[in-house]
Amino acid sequence: MTKIEFTVNGQLCRVDESLPRYTSLNAYLRYTLGLSGTKSMCHEGGCGSCIVMVRAKRYTTSMVETFSVNSCLVLVFSCHGWEITTIEGVGNRNEGYSEVQKRIVEFNGTQCGYCTPGWVMQMTSLEDKNLTMAELEKSFAGNTCRCTGFRPILDAIQSFGTDASPELCQRVRDMEELSICEKKGGSCGRKCSFKSDCSDWSVVEEAK
Ligand code: FES
Ligand code: FES
Repeated sequence: MTKIEFTVNGQLCRVDESLPRYTSLNAYLRYTLGLSGTKSMCHEGGCGSCIVMVRAKRYTTSMVETFSVNSCLVLVFSCHGWEITTIEGVGNRNEGYSEVQKRIVEFNGTQCGYCTPGWVMQMTSLEDKNLTMAELEKSFAGNTCRCTGFRPILDAIQSFGTDASPELCQRVRDMEELSICEKKGGSCGRKCSFKSDCSDWSVVEEAK
């Protein structure tokens, strides 16, 4: 009997022929594992909402690499040996958000949020590749957003560029500075200019 083994967020998954042959990775993640953070919309590789990160040997180079895939286009039976990371494995409210998630929020790069896991996972899979702003922008040709108008998301993405503009770098520095409030125990963790949302004024004042 064919047995396919792979991990999802570090958990071992085994599938055999009892699973329908044409089950997509997207359907498996969402409906078998219940990881609905990975979205699905077009089902044909056009929107990027279903992107997950994979670490595996690439057939083209025979090297173990980190890359992203559109999970709607991948069959579960082609995932043998893969280490798959979904948005649930990147960061969350309880354990803390990743740097990519934080920047997208701070740059106002999310509205309804449906596309956001795809952008986050695409960026997370590129994070250690040292790409320029232009290269990063090109790498997101397969991600769409119906709400934000793209600019805020691209600003957040391009702030990871090796040649990030001084303006974007400054925004990241501001963001880091403002998170001091959170590190010092402030409960809201938001910008100090949003003081009315903070329950502990003394902490905000101290952080400044
Ligand atoms: Fe649109 Fe996969 S659902 S690219
Ligand atoms: Fe709504 Fe992108 S934030 S589709």
